[in-house]
Amino acid sequence: MAKKIPQPTTPPRERAFLVGVEIHNQHKHLSLEDSLTELALLADTAGVDVVGELTQKLSHPHVETYIGPGKVAELKALAEETLSEVVIFDDELMPRHQRELEKALGINIRVIDRTALILDIFAQHAHTKEGMLQVELAQYEYNLPRLTRAWTHLERQAGGGGGRAGSTGGVGLRGPGETQLEVDRRDIRRRIAHIKKELDKVEAYRYRNRSQRKRSRIPTVALVGYTNAGKSTLLNRLSKSDVYAADQLFATLDPTTRRVQLPGDNIALFTDTVGFIQKLPTTLIAAFHATLEEIAEADLLLHVVDISHPNALGQFEAVQETLEEIGASHIPMITALNKADRLKNPENAKRILQDFEKSVAISAAKGTGIPDLLHLVQEELFEAYSPIHVKLPYKEGALISLFHELGQVERIEHGRGGVVMQGRIPGRLLAQFSSWQVKSNGHTPLEIEEEDVEEI
Ligand code: GTP
Repeated sequence: MAKKIPQPTTPPRERAFLVGVEIHNQHKHLSLEDSLTELALLADTAGVDVVGELTQKLSHPHVETYIGPGKVAELKALAEETLSEVVIFDDELMPRHQRELEKALGINIRVIDRTALILDIFAQHAHTKEGMLQVELAQYEYNLPRLTRAWTHLERQAGGGGGRAGSTGGVGLRGPGETQLEVDRRDIRRRIAHIKKELDKVEAYRYRNRSQRKRSRIPTVALVGYTNAGKSTLLNRLSKSDVYAADQLFATLDPTTRRVQLPGDNIALFTDTVGFIQKLPTTLIAAFHATLEEIAEADLLLHVVDISHPNALGQFEAVQETLEEIGASHIPMITALNKADRLKNPENAKRILQDFEKSVAISAAKGTGIPDLLHLVQEELFEAYSPIHVKLPYKEGALISLFHELGQVERIEHGRGGVVMQGRIPGRLLAQFSSWQVKSNGHTPLEIEEEDVEEI
């Protein structure tokens, strides 16, 4: 009689070999070693076992294989010896690099890069319709120039769910799924156009929601920070809610907003959004622009830093850089130096605090420092004044009066259709003016229209 062999409930984890390259004169927030440690953590989050790593210092990437031919031979031998199924490069590879490397390494070894790995993790963690569409869009855009490769990748994969971001399969190509086998480049473009239309609908809904929040005049605070800094844990602590927090990278993708009681009976809306990381793929920034816009429209940024991390400063800088990229660097910011409970010497926290303007040491997990943090938020939103530069149409008379009544006007210039005002206003009022704030390119999110001009 045939005996049934018990089947493992989870598939065996893939074995991965990491490759890091230091390019001469290329500025990075993390050293090669730290960047590879982070890559290993990303691989673990994606469900892959790291079995080895290889590094090379170069003046510039090799045209065909990114690393030099000698290193490729070394990599091939090591990958075979360690029974690796996938090789993960720490930098984004050109489609050509990927193709040539796979040719050199042989049929049994797939080559992916940091971007594909991050996209894979995002695909696993997206739960809302918007999040799933955003990841799918980023994956298609990433895969489009690599289509030949994508075909062979998928052909080698067993199974895979259809259509939904987050389906099973080899790391690096989870997501668009099996249906991609049958589609050609043109169909992918069509799919991209369709996703964009769907996203527009979701974004319009979100915009209406945001406008409502603005009208309700409750100030908003966006939690920003490097992945795993403790943003979700802090939001849970502040709102006593149950937001998913895990010792994993990018556990949170979809924005969560909670009401938080501040001292002095004020309330604010706190939003936890996607974690940042150095080398955040540009396709992801583009696909997630609506989520990131949420950050750019907040009244206050609460930057959560894992102060116990050996590279806390590098992580802080990487976040600042992304904030600049998404046009949020003008928003007032306070810094919460989290995981202070992990510092061997708590006196260190005091020394570190001096390096950060408007900062407070906290432990979101243990609850220490929270009253001080809430006081600082209260102060910034309700007592401190923030600089502002707006171009308001005359029809927004209520806002012009509000600026005069509660703000400090430093410059005012009447022009065709509207008035340019510069000065300072209480932080909690910033959101009401955000559609008319003059950005670094000289434009405002809403432009004064001809019909406004007629009214004068
Ligand atoms: P992403 O979703 O990746 O952006 O992460 P996040 O910033 O939301 O971090 P999360 O709240 O998921 O926390 C990451 C890990 O750090 C979890 O294991 C938490 O339990 C842990 N953690 C958070 N705050 C503290 C703290 O104050 N002290 C200690 N020791 N651990 C903490």
